[in-house]
Amino acid sequence: MKNTPKEKYSLIGKRVYVAGHKGMVGSAIVRALTNIDCSILTESSSNLDLKDNKEVDVWFNNNKPDTVFLAAAKVGGILANNDYPVDFLEDNLAIQNSVISASYKHKVEKFMFLGSSCIYPRGADQPLKESSLLTGALEPTNEAYAIAKIAGIKLCQAYRKQYGVDYISVMPTNLYGPGDNFHPQNSHVVAALISKFYDAINKGSDQIVLWGTGSSLREFMHVDDMADGLIFIMQNYSDVEHINIGTGKEISIKDFAELIKDISGWSGQIDFDSSYPDGMPRKVMDINKINDLGWKAKKELKVGLKEVYNWYVINYNNVRIK
Ligand SMILES: NC(=O)c1ccc[n+]([C@@H]2O[C@H](COP(=O)([O-])OP(=O)(O)OC[C@H]3O[C@@H](n4cnc5c(N)ncnc54)[C@H](OP(=O)(O)O)[C@@H]3O)[C@@H](O)[C@H]2O)c1
Repeated sequence: MKNTPKEKYSLIGKRVYVAGHKGMVGSAIVRALTNIDCSILTESSSNLDLKDNKEVDVWFNNNKPDTVFLAAAKVGGILANNDYPVDFLEDNLAIQNSVISASYKHKVEKFMFLGSSCIYPRGADQPLKESSLLTGALEPTNEAYAIAKIAGIKLCQAYRKQYGVDYISVMPTNLYGPGDNFHPQNSHVVAALISKFYDAINKGSDQIVLWGTGSSLREFMHVDDMADGLIFIMQNYSDVEHINIGTGKEISIKDFAELIKDISGWSGQIDFDSSYPDGMPRKVMDINKINDLGWKAKKELKVGLKEVYNWYVINYNNVRIK
């Protein structure tokens, strides 16, 4: 087995490929990278299907990236995950397998894979520590997605072990921000709530019904904080184990909905439909490892939500609904 590289890594002067640059996370990484003197490489999914390993191989051969942020994935909310497990498992395995193996073949120096806090075991101790991965049964509603993401983390570890390359994985908490998917059924909770409140205002409704009981506890981080953290991790972290990134702060879905209600100015009644699943009862990250490296999230939840609510209102006719 070759030695695992441990030294710091600088992005300055590097050819940095952001896979998934039109997505919420990928576009935030591109925004953050513009402050660094590097060449940013992107390719639209209509020109390059990352599921196709031959196309990916040719693209890497032609573009020769030094560094890769893999922010392309099949992503969705509870219902989409529950209803389309084949897509979540097959697409994610295909994307990550082709990009990781092309990165090795074409001598990428540093590679980052993104997991997600929802792939920790459903009953794991909270706050979620990095060491909790694979210690128990998964949340059934997103099992297919979780299995694919765990395979991605394991593949990075396997490349590290077998070939001594600097491939790392990061476990982000729930994110929100500009460029999110606002589809009424397929979106994540923050985008779903923002669009519900704005619609209620537009339609003059005096009641909003939200899925679940409202009791589950969640952590939310602005995607620009996340991108800042990913760039920090890329340059300052190199180890086998994945690393959590989050705020470490939690809020109930009920209180969170009240916060968006205040921001929106809507004055109706919020009801909860408990026939819909809640997902994991509590989900908050243990962020000691990243804090110890010297990084912390900066944006307050209320400030970030106000910004994103205003962004949504301004971009209402052009937001992503898919
Ligand atoms: N959003 C969150 O709350 C959250 C939380 C934790 C972790 N993450 C992780 O962050 C990463 C990005 O998530 P996101 O929220 O930014 O998702 P997103 O907004 O849906 O973006 C996903 C991106 O992947 C691209 N993509 C999907 N399939 C592709 C394919 N076959 N070929 C080429 N490109 C493809 C999409 O391109 P098109 O737009 O052109 O289709 C899109 O740009 C994922 O790995 C996710 O697990 C996200």
